[in-house]
Amino acid sequence: MSVLVTGGAGFIGSHVVRLLQQRGEEVVVVDDLSNGRADRVGDSPLVQLDLAAEGAQEVLRRTFAERSVDAVVHFAARKQVGESVQKPAWYWQQNVGGQANLLQAMQDAGVGRLVFSSSAATYGAPQVDVVREDGPAEPINPYGQTKLVGEWMNRAAGVAWGLRSANLRYFNVAGAGWPDLGDSVVMNLIPIVFTALDAGRAPVVFGGDYPTPDGSCIRDYVHVLDLAEAHLAALDHLAGDAGEGHDVFNVGTGTGASVLEVLRVVREVTGARVEPEVRERRAGDPPQLVADVGRIRGELGWSASKGLRDTVASAWEAWRAAR
Ligand code: WQD
Repeated sequence: MSVLVTGGAGFIGSHVVRLLQQRGEEVVVVDDLSNGRADRVGDSPLVQLDLAAEGAQEVLRRTFAERSVDAVVHFAARKQVGESVQKPAWYWQQNVGGQANLLQAMQDAGVGRLVFSSSAATYGAPQVDVVREDGPAEPINPYGQTKLVGEWMNRAAGVAWGLRSANLRYFNVAGAGWPDLGDSVVMNLIPIVFTALDAGRAPVVFGGDYPTPDGSCIRDYVHVLDLAEAHLAALDHLAGDAGEGHDVFNVGTGTGASVLEVLRVVREVTGARVEPEVRERRAGDPPQLVADVGRIRGELGWSASKGLRDTVASAWEAWRAAR
């Protein structure tokens, strides 16, 4: 199989690239290197390209033909919720515009399989303990909106010209499959806590009065290597006859952990003794966001193999290796 990976120099994309390389697949990476790093893609060819830029379709069509591409895994996108609220037009231009260029080039070149990096942010602030793919999707920020629109674009391409897509809604991704592929952007809970510990500051817990057992927010933390494996399962699924042609799958562990539990595991793994400081809630945080994982287990035969301790320990190892 020859696979084009957009955003393959990024945190999650590079894990998928490495697993595909290890399986002996042909891989070509397309990345604008705005957050990605060329050293993460190993020997695979790298095309430096912003998918939303003028002329991107032509470059993609040429790359599809030159590399005889069979399938695409599409990660390349802007992914910061707060930034999306500040710059909504840019998020639509980048995420939706980039994907429109990709889909048009795929149609023109006859590339009919796509694994799409979607997000639990498509659910917004759900009123249920565990979210299912067939429940309401009501994103509450432009980032989540662009991901939901991305799923719709893929579905429409399926109707129009037969694209087969697997749309993976990621929950809270963390950890590292290899120490050199850790998340270098400090944006989410675990790297933020490591930064605080390095500086000798107390980690901050946003809100201690949520309606959860210990009062802090609950999330579903999935190890990035498990998540990467889900992409290979999705590619295999698309290559076979099974499935609907447009599938949406939650990718999580199915088990929630509270912020205070995460901090306890961080203390165990790092040996740091700093007690967390509970502050006021952060705007827009749902109390609980945990995946129902029945569909992906049933249809792709995938389930997470690693727990929170593995996730935190691998994140810490990669964090140390980068410093
Ligand atoms: C996790 C929990 C915070 C920092 C976001 C996006 C989602 C996806 C993943 C992109 C929350 C709490 C955090 C801190 C804390 N993004 N927290 N102290 O908000 O669940 O999800 O990232 O693809 O779409 O919304 O992730 O890591 O920011 O927070 O208490 O210093 O940790 O309140 O409960 P979030 P997060």
